[in-house]
Amino acid sequence: MSTLVLGIESSCDETGVALVRTRDGGVPELLAHALHTQVAMHAAYGGVVPELASRDHIRRVIPLAEQVLAEAGQALTAIDLVAYTRGPGLAGALLVGAGLACALGAALEKPVLGVHHLEGHLLSPFLSADPPEFPFVALLVSGGHTQLMRVDGVGRYTLLGETIDDAAGEAFDKSAKLLGLGYPGGPALARLAEFGDATAYKLPRPLLHSGDLDFSFAGLKTAVLTQARRFEGAPCDQQRADLAASTQAAIVEVLVKKSLKALEATGLKRLVVAGGVGANRLLREQLDAACARRGVRVHYPELHLCTDNGAMIALAAAMRLQAGAAEPSEVYAFDVKPRWPLDELAAA
Ligand code: KG4
Ligand code: ZN
Repeated sequence: MSTLVLGIESSCDETGVALVRTRDGGVPELLAHALHTQVAMHAAYGGVVPELASRDHIRRVIPLAEQVLAEAGQALTAIDLVAYTRGPGLAGALLVGAGLACALGAALEKPVLGVHHLEGHLLSPFLSADPPEFPFVALLVSGGHTQLMRVDGVGRYTLLGETIDDAAGEAFDKSAKLLGLGYPGGPALARLAEFGDATAYKLPRPLLHSGDLDFSFAGLKTAVLTQARRFEGAPCDQQRADLAASTQAAIVEVLVKKSLKALEATGLKRLVVAGGVGANRLLREQLDAACARRGVRVHYPELHLCTDNGAMIALAAAMRLQAGAAEPSEVYAFDVKPRWPLDELAAA
C-alpha cells in the first residue's frame, strides 16, 4: 500500500512544502519539494521579524503547495495525510502551516498530523542517498537548538546534552553580526573564515572539559565582542577574516569533541548531523576525519535539506506512521507548540 503525505513547514523564516510517498516498509521517497526563503525580507532588520514572517508564510504557502502537486503530477485529492510543523517555532508562523494543513485535511476528509520540527531535522538524513540505521547519536545544530540525542528509533529519543544558553547557530549569527556581516550570519561567517587564520585569536571553548555533554556559547560571543572592540577604528579585512576563522574553529571544535564524547558514552558507531549548522563545511570535514579514525559512520542530510524545508516534515510524518508511533487526527481543531522539548515525544 502506498501513502502520499503532504508536508508543510512554517516555523520560522522558510516556507516549505513537499510531497513524500511511502510504500510498505521502505524508506519514504521524496516526490517534490518547494521552498521560499524570507532571508532577503528580514535582512534589512538584521534578523527575523515574527509578524512579517507570518504574513509572508500566508502569501507563499498555497502557491508552493500547488507547485509541488504539479511537479509530482499528483491531484490534491490523492493526498492521504497532511503533515505540518506543530512546534517549536514562532507561534504566528506555526499557525499558518497548521491552519492550512487542517483546512486541507477537513476539505479533503483526510487526517492531519502535527510534527516536531526537530524530529524533522533529525530524520532528514533518511532522504539522502546514504540513509542511516538506528540506533545512532544525533547532533542537532540549528539556529535555536544545540542538542546531542541518543536515537533508538522513530519517537525514541533520549536527550544526552544541550546548550545551557545560546545555540550553535545563534553563536554563528551573533558573531557574524559583531563582524558586520549580514543575516543569516552562519553562512556569511563561514565564507569569510575561508580567508582567515583560525589560530590568529585565542577564543574560549566553553564547557569543553565539563565532563558532561552540555554546551555553552554565550561566553564565546562576548569574547568575539571584546576582540572586535580591540581593533583600532575599523578592522581591516584580514583581521575580520581571522576573527571569523577563529570563531568558526572554536564552535566547530566544541561540537566535534562533544559529539565524540557522546559516541564514547553510548558506545554507538553512528552519528547523524542535522540542522542548519550541519551545512558548515569545516564541521563536516572535522567530524568526517575524527569519526573515520574511530570507525564511526557519519550521516548528513543532503545539503539542500540541512536548513528548514517541508520534505523533512512530510518524511517525519511518514516515518511516524510507518513505525506506528503516531495517530493521525481527523479532529481539525489545531494547536501549535512554540516551545516543545523533543524528548517529550514518546512512541505510541
Ligand atoms: O535549522 P535551521 O535552518 O533553522 C532553525 O531551525 O533554526 O538553522 C539555521 C541556522 C542559522 O543560525 C544559520 O546561521 C545556520 O543555521 N547555518 C550555518 C550554515 N548554514 C546555516 N552555520 C554555519 N555554517 C553554515 N554553512
Ligand atoms: Zn530548523
